[in-house]
Amino acid sequence: MRATKSFMMAVMALGLAASLGMFYAADEVKPKYDIEEIMAKAHKGKPSLLQQVVKGKASEEQKKQLLEYYQELAKNKPPKGDAKDWKRRTNALIVAAQDALAGKPNAARALQSAAKCGDCHKAHKED
Ligand code: HEC
Repeated sequence: MRATKSFMMAVMALGLAASLGMFYAADEVKPKYDIEEIMAKAHKGKPSLLQQVVKGKASEEQKKQLLEYYQELAKNKPPKGDAKDWKRRTNALIVAAQDALAGKPNAARALQSAAKCGDCHKAHKED
């Protein structure tokens, strides 16, 4: 079961990488950035990288960067909370960031609703 699951995930990761024209090692386990680093780089600052993307003021590079942060976020293990919930939340962020990169009109709203700071912190951040 376990092997099947990670194989499926590898296939999905490859599909994702191919469709984006990016190169992520499918067998990479260790995240490139930890959660705190991603929070600081994507969510902190005025305006934050996230806010710039939401407001449509981000460059192509910045949108790609946000997507990468969220992809790495999904590989991290949160300090607490249910793993399935973490996966669901981080996946929603990834999908919304992909939509933003693709220029889909609903992307800003999807990003805002996926990046509910307090909701996710309550579920996964130690107080
Ligand atoms: C998908 C879940 C998730 C979302 C959405 C999220 N965060 Fe976080 N955030 C976390 C987790 C988990 C931590 C704790 C990391 C740790 O302690 O290792 C954290 C930590 C932080 C920290 C660091 C706090 C510290 O102790 O240094 C900041 C700042 C932060 N988040 C800001 C934000 C902001 C602003 C938003 C909304 C725009 C946001 N986060 C959305 C999961 C999330």
